[in-house]
Amino acid sequence: MTKYCMEVENTTPIKRGQEYEVSVDKLAFGGKGIAKLNGYVIFVENAIPGQKVKVRITRKRQGFAEARVLEILENSKDSVQPKCFHFGECGGCRFQNLAYNVQLEQKRLQVIESIQHIGGIPDPRVFETIASPDKYFYRNKMEFSFGRNRWVTKLEIDDDSIMKPKDFALGMHVRGRYDKILDIDECYLQSELCVDILNRVKAFVLETEMPIYSTIDHIGFWRHLVIREGKSTGQMLVNFVTTSQGKCDDFIQSLVKILVTEFPEITTIVQNITDRKAEVALGEREIVLHGSGVINEKIGENFYQISANSFFQTNTSGAGLLYSKITEFADFSGNEIVYDLYAGAGSISLYISNKVKEVIGFEIVADAVKDANKNSDLNKISNCSFIAGDLKDTLEIDVAQKIGLPDILIIDPPRPGLHEDVVEMVVKLSPQKIVYVSCNPTTFARDLKLICESGYKLIKVQPVDMFPMTPHIELVSLIEKN
Ligand SMILES: C[S@@+](CC[C@H](N)C(=O)[O-])C[C@H]1O[C@@H](n2cnc3c(N)ncnc32)[C@H](O)[C@@H]1O
Repeated sequence: MTKYCMEVENTTPIKRGQEYEVSVDKLAFGGKGIAKLNGYVIFVENAIPGQKVKVRITRKRQGFAEARVLEILENSKDSVQPKCFHFGECGGCRFQNLAYNVQLEQKRLQVIESIQHIGGIPDPRVFETIASPDKYFYRNKMEFSFGRNRWVTKLEIDDDSIMKPKDFALGMHVRGRYDKILDIDECYLQSELCVDILNRVKAFVLETEMPIYSTIDHIGFWRHLVIREGKSTGQMLVNFVTTSQGKCDDFIQSLVKILVTEFPEITTIVQNITDRKAEVALGEREIVLHGSGVINEKIGENFYQISANSFFQTNTSGAGLLYSKITEFADFSGNEIVYDLYAGAGSISLYISNKVKEVIGFEIVADAVKDANKNSDLNKISNCSFIAGDLKDTLEIDVAQKIGLPDILIIDPPRPGLHEDVVEMVVKLSPQKIVYVSCNPTTFARDLKLICESGYKLIKVQPVDMFPMTPHIELVSLIEKN
């Protein structure tokens, strides 16, 4: 069938494979542009608000469709020149072409819409998004993947002087392609030093021809390179995530020697070994190859010890802003018992410890709980304790009665939000205030609805931009008992 670009009448149904001209009004959660056509909402990949684009429909569903851009017909007044030459292909930052103030406003609008449509609150009080102190180079952790299936870039197709092997890559996944790795030469998310380390590791692995792991045949050694950086201490941790296949100890030792000689900033190097099929940069066994295996970071007045596998906020200076907003919203009197649900390595618990009577943190990852306890000692804090285990098992009313019922709950779950049993327990514990911190406005709004149906009301919401140039959103909210 001939595909053609058409002016659509109100009654014309949208068809898969057809081409249309649409105007993009705003961004959806996840980063796609939203356009409306003939009663349909069209989610357009790679489009920003204010652009008029020619698109092809790739998927059609009841009431909405998905499309990809064929041509930008009119550019947005908010479009800016992306910094990175990997822009458009890399799965890392995808808003580099959108003015930063517009990114902030779009994130606020997405929070409002989620609360209205999913949370059922018609007029929520949502403040303007607080900007990240750093727009680039803000991440303290990057996970790069090794791959045998390199993405051939658009630039290479036009420029045959680029000579890179097709069966090796160390970098980021290509957007929407979990089988292809984009070999990264530059990156503006972590410091420049991190990119230099990445490139040095890449050169070594290419020279020594040690096998790269593939998810297709599950054979090979190298899986991921993770670099963590203490932004306020300058300490660096390099983590090789490998399989247990092959005798590679000598190679690894010479790479360690090269890295510590050429990069004195590297204070520790570890190897995490995993033979699991899932593509997660975590090991079941860790070997410390150089230094102590941990680095220190500072947020507010406290130092935090971070190991390779424990959760830590990835934007250190943004975390300072986030935690001070949590403190402001909680408005502690000094006498409260606070539960810090989903406590990670105890960062929030320790941050608020001198403002409250006692904090009890709940966390599933045993290593993170170990770090949390060590962090309490490191900062000579004695009013924080941590309970390890899955919250749906550890947050029990009889346990809570023994340790003291909470006056305030701080909840900071991962993206899927709260398990129904946890929502039920939160309400049963009946705290006066809940400070819910979320990195996913849609699951936040879902949980908020349930909490508000059980005798609570939303007071205010503060989006904080922890992830500039990406679609990710972070927010702090205050929910109080009616
Ligand atoms: C978004 S992080 C928050 C970490 C911490 N509040 C901070 O600011 O550093 C979510 C944490 O929840 C933990 N977690 C995930 N599922 C859990 C569960 N079912 N029970 C307890 N903790 C869980 C994760 O291991 C992770 O440390």
